[in-house]
Amino acid sequence: MPASRRGSGSITLPTGQTLAFHSHTRSSEDDDLPHATKKKMADHLRKYEALFTLTPQRMRMIVEAFKESLETGLAKNEQIVPMIPTYVFGWPSGNETGDYLAVDLGGTNLRVCLVTLQGGGKFEITQSKYRLSEEQKQEDGQKLFDFCAECLKAFIDSYIDDGTIKAGTRLPLGFTFSYPCAQKSIDHGQLIRWTKGFGAPNTEGHDVVEMFRRSLEKQNVPAEIVALTCDTTGTLIASHYVNPKTRIACIFGTGCNAAYMERVGDIPKIKHLGIPDDEEMAINCEWGAFDSFEHENLPRTKYDQIIDETSNKPGEQAFEKLISGRYLGEILRLIICELIDEGVLFLGQNTYKIEIPYSFDTAFLSLMESDPTDELLMIIGIFSHFFALETTLAERQFFRALAKLVGRRAARLSACGIAAIVSKKGYLEEGCMVGADGSLYNKYPGFAERIHEGLHDIFGEKGRNVVTYHAEDGSGIGSAIVAAMTKQRKLAGRYPDL
Ligand code: BGC
Repeated sequence: MPASRRGSGSITLPTGQTLAFHSHTRSSEDDDLPHATKKKMADHLRKYEALFTLTPQRMRMIVEAFKESLETGLAKNEQIVPMIPTYVFGWPSGNETGDYLAVDLGGTNLRVCLVTLQGGGKFEITQSKYRLSEEQKQEDGQKLFDFCAECLKAFIDSYIDDGTIKAGTRLPLGFTFSYPCAQKSIDHGQLIRWTKGFGAPNTEGHDVVEMFRRSLEKQNVPAEIVALTCDTTGTLIASHYVNPKTRIACIFGTGCNAAYMERVGDIPKIKHLGIPDDEEMAINCEWGAFDSFEHENLPRTKYDQIIDETSNKPGEQAFEKLISGRYLGEILRLIICELIDEGVLFLGQNTYKIEIPYSFDTAFLSLMESDPTDELLMIIGIFSHFFALETTLAERQFFRALAKLVGRRAARLSACGIAAIVSKKGYLEEGCMVGADGSLYNKYPGFAERIHEGLHDIFGEKGRNVVTYHAEDGSGIGSAIVAAMTKQRKLAGRYPDL
């Protein structure tokens, strides 16, 4: 009989549920199942360390290439990093006021919000959230917008019933659609490509505002779309509304992206619009596309290549596939599966559950990294509960170290993106604040610290001048502020057609 102890604990599942468990933990390697030895696991770890570690020098090379891509995207249309002009002109004053609806179609959920901007950087928000099913992400696009309209209608009706919204009012609506859209004006956006696993047909190449408007009209929803924004642009504006030192906004969630404010004179591709050079416009970088198709600059492992090749969009979103929450769990799972195939892990156990693609949620990596127990009880719970697999302490330590490698690489690559914008805009000396949001940034232990460590590795001591912080809710509040700014701009007759 192997030496054993009883362990117990609880873990929070990605669904928010808490799971209590009691497990039989093994404290030695002389087990009744043929487990890998500590030494063997340490050898394997060294191999993965070499693959996933980014040196400061390599990071600086990535930053240089990144900067070039940003410039090319500003100069010409249809580049790999599209650098989308958003028609959000300048920063909010902080005194925007009024009631606005916001619909946020993100990577995982649909959110409907009622936002009251109170001025002075203050606001109130109420919201409902709906989980999107995998089927909905692949259904006909118009059907997806019909669903958004239905949810918005039910939301408005409930607020009319309780007297919050006056019957007969038609509220302005900010639509947050967090996928790359080429914009000709603030209320137009042609979907360039779906990302984050979406694939709804009859949507790419179409104006998503027009499609959503059609759904709203069909169902007589009393809302008028005044602005289309991406979650990053919304985050930039919302963060600046409460923290005027903000210069850049990033999302590290199911997908990843950044937005910042650019001088119009430095966006050569919109010169023909005749907007004065000194005006400012927010740029939605869509940096998740960096290095797509060419794969010349990023250190892709064979696991990254498998993810890319088996995705619904091979070649695309190359940067995002190394960083975002949709993929990190899958990277780790592919490594585990490789070691199963090589006969290193789980010999004699039934591994079919962990062999299912995307079965290893990125939330598991966060949980594994934050397991506070010596026996790594959280990791026991994850493997036994979700995959019916028994693990030894040596294996659990190995899994935790692997999670750390994958999570750290993601954060350091994120730092490269931030550094590219900081360096392009010359923000390093003066320093700047970066509003960041998304499940990875908010929930992954140490993600922010690792970004800061990466910035320090790239820039040296001055890297400490760039500070990320948890941003305001860009896709709700930001979207409402953008709608308010648009209303004010049009009333003042500034570029009314844009
Ligand atoms: C989308 C961006 C979005 C980001 C974060 C990416 O996949 O292309 O528009 O900002 O995810 O949600």
